[in-house]
Amino acid sequence: MKLYTDRFILTPGPTGIPHCVRMALARETTNPDLDPGFLSEYDKVRSMLRDLLGARSASIYIMVGEAILGLEAAIANLVKPGDRVLVVANGVFGEGFADIVKAYRGAPILVGASDEEWRRSIEASTIDRELERSKDVSIVTLVHCDTPSAILNDLRSVAKVVKEHGALLVVDAVSSIGGVPIEFDKNGVDVLIGGSQKVLNAPAGLTIIAISEAAWEAIDRVNYSGLYLNLRMWRESLDTHGVFPYTMSDVLTYALEEALKALFNEGLDSVYGRHLMARRASWRALEALGLTPFPASINDSSPTVTAFLTPSGINDGELRNHLWRKYGVMLAGSWGRLQGRVIRVGHMGVQASRTHLLIAYTTLAKALRDFGREASVSRVVDAIESELS
Ligand SMILES: Cc1ncc(COP(=O)(O)O)c(C=O)c1O
Repeated sequence: MKLYTDRFILTPGPTGIPHCVRMALARETTNPDLDPGFLSEYDKVRSMLRDLLGARSASIYIMVGEAILGLEAAIANLVKPGDRVLVVANGVFGEGFADIVKAYRGAPILVGASDEEWRRSIEASTIDRELERSKDVSIVTLVHCDTPSAILNDLRSVAKVVKEHGALLVVDAVSSIGGVPIEFDKNGVDVLIGGSQKVLNAPAGLTIIAISEAAWEAIDRVNYSGLYLNLRMWRESLDTHGVFPYTMSDVLTYALEEALKALFNEGLDSVYGRHLMARRASWRALEALGLTPFPASINDSSPTVTAFLTPSGINDGELRNHLWRKYGVMLAGSWGRLQGRVIRVGHMGVQASRTHLLIAYTTLAKALRDFGREASVSRVVDAIESELS
């Protein structure tokens, strides 16, 4: 017998999808290539993204394909064989950029890759030192929120130092956009990639990519010759001729539009404040449960996801399986060097709410008790409530 009727997907993406976004998926479909109404709707979504990212001067494209596509497009269009690229590798996706750079025959230089550095946001001074040493580096990659460890890197200080060295900054903001301010123009980001299935609570399947004027100059110089990932082709087709280079998904675009409307209806200040509150409440809940957060301090931790060390003597897969089967709550494990060592709770978009936080941590408390550990449900509730206002 199932002991629950609802399912709570409290993973850091894909997340549960709210009703209004699901309804958009059921809208009447069209031919996206031929319907001029669809092109204006796509442009409206681009304009909402421009507001969300604070990217007034950037080109923005929404491409069909999961977020990895955007990461690969950025590197494919910017890196020539032999180019040295500084890769901030303080997390699974941070390190992963090096593989993409190598795939395009670039030469990555890694910083922040030690176990100890994986628990902290990167220091801008580390990047400064490396750029001072390696004068030929013209591109730096950074992951804003490295989801598998919940680390949040500081965009502003990193962008500042990268600019001082005249390099371009490529940012993976897949699990931060919609939950943490980006300020693309103000911070001086050059290429930024987002995804649909994380904080935006839309289905997986779209990549969002924003490109600065400085990045375009480099892209024009590199002159990448591929097809689908060719950003010059997207610019030429969409911005010069007003046609899609490849068939766009209308329903996924409608879903993203609905998700963005929900953010603007709530107001971005409230949205960002709600995510900060979710981070505080999560850290208090971990404390009440005697669990150890993975990032070294709350300020190194993303407002969109909380990671903690798997309690010793418990198998993370068994604990999460138990939570799912008995309580209908899905939490995530992690990958790579964190596999089995870290468990994660998503508080992305709609998950950053009183209901979701209470469900995540009270059922975690119950599951820990089922595994013979001491855990007080009422202490967890008090801890979370003390942060909710
Ligand atoms: C920080 C980060 N970058 C990139 C990705 C890849 O996104 P996708 O699964 O949409 O390709 C993820 C997915 O978990 C992520 O968390």
